[in-house]
Amino acid sequence: MAIKRTKIVDVFGGELEGQQVCVKGWVRTRRGNKHVQFIALNDGSTINNLQIVVNLEQFTEEQLKPITTGSSLCVIGKLVASMGKGQSYEVQADEIEVYGTAPAEDYPLQKKGHTLEFMREIGHLRMRTNTFGAVFRIRHHLAFAIHKFFNDKGFFYLHTPLITSSDAEGAGEMFQVTTLDVNDMPRTEDGKIDYSKDFFGKMTSLTVSGQLEGELGATSLGAIYTFGPTFRAEHSNTPRHLAEFWMIEPEMAFYDINDNMDLAEEFIKYCVKYALDHCKDDIEFLNKMYDNTLIERLNGVLKDDFVRLTYTEGIKILEESGAKFEFPVKWGVDLQSEHERYLVEHHFKRPVILTDYPKEIKAFYMKQNDDGKTVRAMDVLFPQIGEIIGGSEREADYDKLLNRINELGIPMKDMWWYLDTRKYGTVPHSGFGLGFERLVLFVTGMANIRDVIAFPRTPNNCEF
Ligand code: 4AD
Ligand code: MG
Repeated sequence: MAIKRTKIVDVFGGELEGQQVCVKGWVRTRRGNKHVQFIALNDGSTINNLQIVVNLEQFTEEQLKPITTGSSLCVIGKLVASMGKGQSYEVQADEIEVYGTAPAEDYPLQKKGHTLEFMREIGHLRMRTNTFGAVFRIRHHLAFAIHKFFNDKGFFYLHTPLITSSDAEGAGEMFQVTTLDVNDMPRTEDGKIDYSKDFFGKMTSLTVSGQLEGELGATSLGAIYTFGPTFRAEHSNTPRHLAEFWMIEPEMAFYDINDNMDLAEEFIKYCVKYALDHCKDDIEFLNKMYDNTLIERLNGVLKDDFVRLTYTEGIKILEESGAKFEFPVKWGVDLQSEHERYLVEHHFKRPVILTDYPKEIKAFYMKQNDDGKTVRAMDVLFPQIGEIIGGSEREADYDKLLNRINELGIPMKDMWWYLDTRKYGTVPHSGFGLGFERLVLFVTGMANIRDVIAFPRTPNNCEF
């Protein structure tokens, strides 16, 4: 009778000790001598390889020849406790079937120790390495933790549209969506492109944020969150920007800025703790291989309360710091990650929530403070990362919001539905956006955001 396949992660559970097991996976290495050979097999379910012991009295050299790094196998054999250092169990092979070979001459991952830059060039295979296996398992657990956190708190997962007719952040960094023939656009009499002929009868784009629709949900369901892809055509070729990234945006009725900060801090600590609890092997691997301060940094975030201070206070600290910055700092400027990281890594040595930014550098929907100059914004700043969360209390007053929309020249035809939240039963409310890849960057300790999303989209790069 055929034996059912067991995942390697379950084999290490040990319950099948002494029994025949069937495991399937890809060969990481094969070594040994004329009497016995050892195959390290990995099936992606864990970073730990299962050792397959091959007795050459049972198998010929010829049979083992196609078993090289990267080839795929089905192995049946007895699961036994291992004598070898660092492995708890191994399988004594009785039967080996080779599913597919990976000829050593041209298999790109034949050798170990490739750089992360090279791995980006073989993005279609890089998930087969220990590093990227670890990163994408951690990414999965973080996504799961996020849904669990909000579900346990009674938030509803709202699916906001990816194709939209409004620019939520007002930054004009949108990818247009059209079915018009771009080589032969229909024109109106005055020579402008006639979008009434386009698929939706108007100009549309990929969303930069689900927030505005999220506010419609929050002012109906009380508390919602979105978790989906967002798109930004910003030409920021940095280790922290993607053109397509995933964002989590909770939005809550009856929350003021302080409630919002409390939620953001609790949320991010929950995610970090969840990863430490559920991804121990993978995090330990990354800590060992890339950044031996990673685990310390993760625990550090859990330990202390985040510092909360205003933008104005933050600017004062930066001005008085005497530090040399590439971008000079004074009240009114948008903070660069060098400034954010100075506050977090050098000055306070823990995460910082900066509030009350100048209204000129923040989006139109933020609640205006009485000083006429600042808005009730909050950015959460993290070690190594800089801004990881951006959010605010929202302007709940119809007239103030409309004034700001007019001041900024945002076309009302796009915004009437949004203004209705303030016209009918308006309430104080707040929300924020967490950049998912920036969270994954922080938790994995990777240095480049292209290495924490499976298929990165950045300027001049759209493989697959
Ligand atoms: O600060 P942002 O632009 O805020 C918003 O979009 C609001 N609508 C959120 C809200 O209040 N609901 O973006 C939020 C977060 C940033 O803090 C950052 O972590 C991430 O999204 N982010 C990016 N991540 C990767 N690549 C990019 N190009 C990003 N732009 C923003
Ligand atoms: Mg921001």
